[in-house]
Amino acid sequence: MSNSSKPSLLIARAIFPEVIARLQNNFTLELNQEDCIFSPTELAQRLQGKFGMLCTSSARIDATLLAACPELRIVSSIAVGYDNIDLHACQHFGVMATNAPDVLSETTADYAWALLMAAARRVTEAEHFLRAGQWQKWSYDFFLGAEIHGTCLGILGMGRIGQAIARRASGFGMRVIYHNRQRLTPEQEAAAHGASYVEKERLLQEADHLMLALPYSPEVHHIIGAPELALMKPSATLCNIARGGIVDDTALIAALREGRLAAAGLDVFENEPRLNPDFLQLKNVVLSPHIASATRQTRLAMVNTAANNLIAAARGERPPQLLVV
Ligand code: GLV
Repeated sequence: MSNSSKPSLLIARAIFPEVIARLQNNFTLELNQEDCIFSPTELAQRLQGKFGMLCTSSARIDATLLAACPELRIVSSIAVGYDNIDLHACQHFGVMATNAPDVLSETTADYAWALLMAAARRVTEAEHFLRAGQWQKWSYDFFLGAEIHGTCLGILGMGRIGQAIARRASGFGMRVIYHNRQRLTPEQEAAAHGASYVEKERLLQEADHLMLALPYSPEVHHIIGAPELALMKPSATLCNIARGGIVDDTALIAALREGRLAAAGLDVFENEPRLNPDFLQLKNVVLSPHIASATRQTRLAMVNTAANNLIAAARGERPPQLLVV
């Protein structure tokens, strides 16, 4: 194919050079390896004349943007979560939208456990203490944390990632309970370490450690707020590897500060990357910058999934991970 016959593609964020090399065979590329975050106006300008865009969840894809980009045919995200994409608007404007599920489930579940263990066993708090030169002597009640093995793990959102988190509970001899829009089949429950379905209220009341693994949508905005936190055990741990906005961060900060919840492990925040600064004052929260899927292998697989979707669309085929159109 000559350059001029290739469709144009905006790669809206920095990505792996090897995937750029793959995409070069199929597209004329506009790159952003400096990794600037484009404003909506700049994004619309850069999308003029483009057939497609490869993006992350930092790009807001809405009717205003799509109306301004009439040649756009596909938006391909490297993320599994697509709350940044207005699927109705995509349908209305005839723009395909794709995401990158599956390839990150196991890695994200690994990280959920890393956060849970760090929060429950106070790993980062103890490390900060040590780094600050405060360790004078060992003592029997030094950084007492919460038990993990043999306790009850609650999972809110039992999709692929939730099920992968549940499977890992077998090594810890935990009982797993979950709540989900849809109950799993008995076979799926058996494969998820025998997880049992419970109502949300019971999940909150019984879990010693609660994992949030549900996709964000306006319907679940602040699904964990002050009333839900009040139902949880004061000794419990809450971990969010899903999306900011699912938890009311202000209510969570109050619960952690007042000892109504023992600890939290958070990889996602409302308004990230500008998280509520009050989190930084709390010792009983482990904070990380949205890195649950961050291994080289997994991130490469996510970007390649997005590339596969784009290449299929350019060939007039159905993208494997088509969400809409
Ligand atoms: C990460 O948050 C993703 O949705 O892939």
